[in-house]
This record gives sequence, structure tokens and C-alpha cells, in this order.
Amino acid sequence: TMMRDISGVSDLERSLKKTLQTRDCIVVPGNTDESSWVKYELGRACLNHMKDHLKEQNIIAVTGGTTIAAVADALTSDFSDKELLFVPARGGIGTDVKNQANSICEVMAEKTNSKHMVLYVPDQVSENIYEFFKNEPYVFEVLSKIRSANIVIHGIGEAITMAKRRKTSEDDMRKIVEGKAVAEAFGYYFNENGEVVHKVQTIGLQLEDLNKIDMIYAVAGGESKAKAIKAYMKIAPKNTILVTDEAVSKLILKG
Ligand code: F6P
Repeated sequence: TMMRDISGVSDLERSLKKTLQTRDCIVVPGNTDESSWVKYELGRACLNHMKDHLKEQNIIAVTGGTTIAAVADALTSDFSDKELLFVPARGGIGTDVKNQANSICEVMAEKTNSKHMVLYVPDQVSENIYEFFKNEPYVFEVLSKIRSANIVIHGIGEAITMAKRRKTSEDDMRKIVEGKAVAEAFGYYFNENGEVVHKVQTIGLQLEDLNKIDMIYAVAGGESKAKAIKAYMKIAPKNTILVTDEAVSKLILKG
């Protein structure tokens, strides 16, 4: 639209798409680090795009975090005419309850009169316990839904911020710091080259599962996430749609 062209945002979108080599970039004005309403705008922009790509039946996998919580805030009941099922992307990597994927799914389902499923898996348990969990009938069902999701909406975080926000053990913290992690998404920590230096052990969506998913929205803004976004986008599936803000876009383009 004209408004977007006047603000120069469409030029930014084009340049960013070229630089990050991804399917699409959607840029909203402002800086998420400075004004909290920008997160809501990221949410609205993501949903606006998604609305045109819904099928009759949809399984939408979501991650946690304050940005994806803002996507939930921006949801409206006009999504109710399609069948939607919200599932958390991965279990046990939540932070505070309000911003956990489970809670976000619940809000999303409530706002759209649709269904959601939860995945409660404790952090830091042994391999055996995971095997046991996976075969619990309800968990088994949630995992199969996650694997057949046609849409994913996920956040990207700055690695050390995320490691501190979670109850990361000293050993894992060392791996993250020594591995020079700068980005985190889905419980995976990445260095500047997009290489995985640490991974939170849990069930649900694995990075390689993303390749089978049609619509992937990475929603993250704020100058503090410049390195994180750049690093994650190096390994992100090429059909990822990045929803971000003007401030961090300019920083990324500066190189
Ligand atoms: O913990 C879930 C998660 O999506 C992480 O994968 C991501 O790094 C983080 O949240 C982003 O959080 P926020 O949107 O609050 O910056």
C-alpha cells in the first residue's frame, strides 16, 4: 500500500529478502526493543499473511516467548471460519507460564473458537523417560499432530538471554558460551554461522521436521536480535517467512 511505500518499508522488505535469501520478509515500522506495541504489530503482520494461506483444516504449531504471545494477542475471531488446531512445537522448553507454548496455544484456541493440545514434558530427564513419555497415548497423539502441522509460528531469541531465562545448567551454559552461540530457536542454540552448538533435549518438533512444513513464520524484532536473526536465517528452511521490524532490518542490512 501507499503508506508502506512512503515509510520505505517495502524497500526494506525487498533488500532483506535478498540478503537473507528467504521466501519472504515482512517488516513493520518501529523497534521492538523500544516500544512494546511493535510486538503486537509483528503479530498482526504475521496473522494478516497467514489468513490468506489457511486451508480448510489447519494444524498450527507454535513456540513460546513474548513475541509469539503477542501474535496470540493479535488474533481475532474472524479466523473462526476455518478449522484450526493449535499445538505447542516442543515440550518442556517453556519459560514463565504465561509465555509458554502451552498457554499461548490455549489463548489462540480461545480467541478463534478452535481446539488446542498441550505437551507437558519435564526438562532435563533421562532418555528412558522420554521414550516412556512418547508412548503415552495422549503424548503420542500430540506428537503426531505436531509432525503433520502445515503452519509453524516461532520466535527467535538472543542465545545468552534465552539461556539465562531458562534454568540452564552450568554445563550447558558452558557449551553455549564456549560455542559462541548468538541465536536460539526451538530449543536449539546456534553460532554466527548457523551451526548448532547446543540443543535442549525434549520431544516435539525437531529442526529437520521443518523442511516438511509449508508455511513457516519466524517472528522476531528489536535491534538486540540482529545477530540472532542473521545466524538463524542461515540455516532456516528457504520457505521461511521472516516477520520483523524496521530497526533490526536496517541493522542487518548494514552488515
Ligand atoms: O522459549 C520459546 C522461544 O520461542 C525461543 O525459542 C525464542 O528464543 C524465544 O522464545 C523468544 O522470546 P521473545 O519473543 O520473548 O524474545
